[in-house]
Amino acid sequence: MSHHPASNFDHLSEGELTAKLEPELLPKHVAVIMDGNGRWAELRGLPRIAGHREGINSVREMITLCLELGIRALTIYAFSQENWNRPTQEISALMELLEHYLSTERASLIEQNVCFRAIGRHELLPPSAQHWVRTTEKETAHLDKLSLTVALSYGGRAEIVDAVKTMMEDVQTGTLQQGLIDETTIRQYLYTHPLPDPDLLIRTSGETRISNFLLWQLAYTELCFTPTLWPDFRRREFLLALIEYQRRERRFGRVPSTVPS
Ligand code: FPP
Repeated sequence: MSHHPASNFDHLSEGELTAKLEPELLPKHVAVIMDGNGRWAELRGLPRIAGHREGINSVREMITLCLELGIRALTIYAFSQENWNRPTQEISALMELLEHYLSTERASLIEQNVCFRAIGRHELLPPSAQHWVRTTEKETAHLDKLSLTVALSYGGRAEIVDAVKTMMEDVQTGTLQQGLIDETTIRQYLYTHPLPDPDLLIRTSGETRISNFLLWQLAYTELCFTPTLWPDFRRREFLLALIEYQRRERRFGRVPSTVPS
């Protein structure tokens, strides 16, 4: 499942690639594990943070393309629970980058009608980062062209733990009846509620793991792995991933159907 159709389409222009997309078969929700920033920088003899900085340009291009194509939800993994184990210097540089991005790009998100939300245990982030997260969430809460969800200090298992805890509290206070708990209930307690599950997950830089991202939500998601490093993942790469997605048969465990190839 980790192939990429790039080789078949090398000769096609961006316009020709876009023309290959079938609007009704586009994913509604795309999730991304943005990996390979460090390697991108190291290959150029630059500090790792230069890779993260360049990676923001890829985020920007993805947002633009989602808006152009009418993809309504984009969820990106910006900082995992495990990332707290990185050198302090890299962590603070990443936090600064996040703050800089939110403080300078807020206006453009608003102008583009993008609703920003952070998921994860962001109470662990530095206070100034929390401030910008809350401000951006508040100022974009009413916008609805694209839901941009940024996973920050996020872990998929931690998300399930948090859901279970809140559910138990609600059972104790009588807001939730234990006997009525089903998959729909659990979905409602996840950070991502009310977003639909991702239809497509993209992971860059050749790693082929889920790495504790959206564990519950990825149950039926198409996985697309590409060797491209995140700072090099631009419009063309995204279009190729979308074409690959459309070529897959989405069966959800049923018999093969008439999904176009
Ligand atoms: C993985 O590359 C990437 C990250 C840990 C951070 C991703 C963050 C950004 C692109 C910028 C912040 C985002 C926003 C929305 C402001 P890596 O460092 O693991 O690369 P490597 O595997 O090559 O070491």
